[in-house]
Formats: sequence, structure tokens, C-alpha cells
Amino acid sequence: MRGGLRVAAPCKINLHLGVFDRRSDGYHPIESIFQLLEFGDVLWIDSLKKSSGIELCVEGPVSLNSSVPPEQNIAYKAVRLFQSASGDDSGWYICLEKRVPLGAGLGGGSSDAAAVLLALNQLTGYPLSRQQLENLAAKLGSDVPFFIKCGITETTDYSAANASTVNTGTTNAGTAYAGTAYVTGRGEQIELIDVLAPWCVVLVNPALHSSTPEAFAMLDTFRQKSGAYPKPLIGRDRLVRMLETHPASWTFYNDFLEVFMEIGRPEMQQSYSAILRDLKALGADFVNLSGSGSTCYGVFSAVESAKTAYKTLLNRWPFVELTFPLARRGNAVVQ
Ligand code: C5P
Repeated sequence: MRGGLRVAAPCKINLHLGVFDRRSDGYHPIESIFQLLEFGDVLWIDSLKKSSGIELCVEGPVSLNSSVPPEQNIAYKAVRLFQSASGDDSGWYICLEKRVPLGAGLGGGSSDAAAVLLALNQLTGYPLSRQQLENLAAKLGSDVPFFIKCGITETTDYSAANASTVNTGTTNAGTAYAGTAYVTGRGEQIELIDVLAPWCVVLVNPALHSSTPEAFAMLDTFRQKSGAYPKPLIGRDRLVRMLETHPASWTFYNDFLEVFMEIGRPEMQQSYSAILRDLKALGADFVNLSGSGSTCYGVFSAVESAKTAYKTLLNRWPFVELTFPLARRGNAVVQ
């Protein structure tokens, strides 16, 4: 049993992802629906009584490149950033149990960073406001503010009872908030959406690393060469109305999917089309790619079909996970 606080770092999928033309600062504006999921990494955070350094250990089924120094890990960078903003000079021990595949479009590293910011703020007596944490998060990466927004609610406790209602996949009582958000800007403008999510998700990753900057550059190249324009903004209200319908009628899309299918690496094209076909054949109501790849997912309104799909796909693909929309948490620290 490790000491310190156990902090959940749940992953996300993008139910919808529209990407617009690159801005002068190098980022692309997006319009997205982010969905927080139960599945994720776990961190243990403890203070180092006798030193002021940072000790980072990484465990779990997903291994990091051992040639990359710990200082380059986003969780480590989050500690440093928190300390420079808050004046904290304690030593910290962080043990990261890595479960979310890397370069997978699931926001694993971003969620680790947000979990560190939230936990350190709590452990040091809340020196930073929620807005300050979101600002720090945006410095660490475009997806990090979403995990801060979902990880803190200052006045409301979204209890485990709500989460378990969602987790059964049955229609819930109308009080659960499913960690869903309408996200714009480069990812830092986040509006939480109160919507029920009575469905589950099967994640499938073909063990291909997908680099975010490369994916955005590929999208630019594809549009320049093909003369394709970005699709028009859909708008929050229309996207939310669609979310409230059965997943089988969703017409959400991910702009990266078309790009990969047209000019992506052959192994990506083959894997994505095979996974999406498999998920549909196994009863998924909606299928898509998450983020800039490489994880594809199926949304299932029937839990039994999702379980069967999960078992079948485990024999075909290196990473398969059955998981559920996660209710927004009242507090980052779960134990
Ligand atoms: O913010 P993050 O560090 O995750 O972004 C990595 C890179 O991905 C950026 O430097 C940029 O090239 C690209 N990106 C983008 N538009 C976004 C988010 C990321 O072009 N909205």
C-alpha cells in the first residue's frame, strides 16, 4: 500500500471534433464535444519530508520511453509550474500508474497533469483559485484545462451514487452530470454540458503512436492539396440537441479521420478502417476516432453488446477497454 493521496486521472474521448484553419499563433481553433471516461491513470502523491526535490516513479501496464528524462514528463512539469505560481517549495513524490496508451488521443498525459495541479492545490491549502489552475493548465497543453474544469466543482458534490447510476448503462434519474463539455478556442474554452449519458464505450487502440503536432500539420497539407475548406461551425445548441438523441442517430465527426484515411500512414488507414468496421459489426451505435488518434471507439447503448464486443476485440487488437462516461467529480482526490 502506497502512502499519500490516490488521485484519479480519467481519460477522455472526443465525441465530435471539428478543426478550423491554423491561427497566427500556430494553433487551430476547434469545436469539440469532450467526454470524460471512468478509465484512466492513477497517481499517488505524497510530500517528501526531508527534501525539496521531485521524485517521479512510473508503473503500470503502459511503459514510457526510458531514455526520456523525468523532467520532460508532463506530471513533473505540472509540479514545477504549480510551485512557481504558488510559491510552494516542498518536495513531492509522485507515483504514476500508467494505464492510458500514449499518443492515443485519450488525453492521458493531460489528465495526469491536471490531477497533479488539483491535488497539489488541495494538499497545500488551496493557494490558487480555479481560474489560476485553468490558466496554468493551458500552459501545459491544450487539453489540460478540460480536466481541471471537470475535476473541480466548488459547491456541489457529485456523489458516487450518481456515477454508479451512469455506470450501469441504464437510464438514470436525471441528476447525473456526465463530464461532458462543449470545447472551443484551442481547447481552453470549456462549457460543461448537463446531459445524461446512458451508454458505454469500447476503446480500441492499434498500438500506433499518433503525434498531435504531426496530425495538425497533416490536416493543413491535406486541405492545401485537396482545396478542401473547414466545415462550418455547428454551434453548441445543435451539438447538445444531438447529444440528447440516441447515439445511433448521431452525425458527429472527427476531421482528423478523413485526413488519416486519405493521406495517413498505410498501417493507420488499415487499422482505423478495420477497427471501425469491427465495432459497427459488433453492435456499436456510433463509432469514431478520438482526438488526433490513434484510439477508435464505439458507443453502445446496450451494455451486453458492449461486453461481447470487448471480449471479441481483445483477441484482435493490442489495447481494448470497456468503460463508462464519468460523472463530474466534486473533488480530484478519490481516496
Ligand atoms: O497544446 P498542445 O501542446 O497539446 O499542442 C501540441 C501541438 O499541436 C501544438 O504545438 C500545435 O502544433 C498543435 N495544436 C494545434 N491546435 C490545437 C491544439 C494543438 O495546432 N488546438
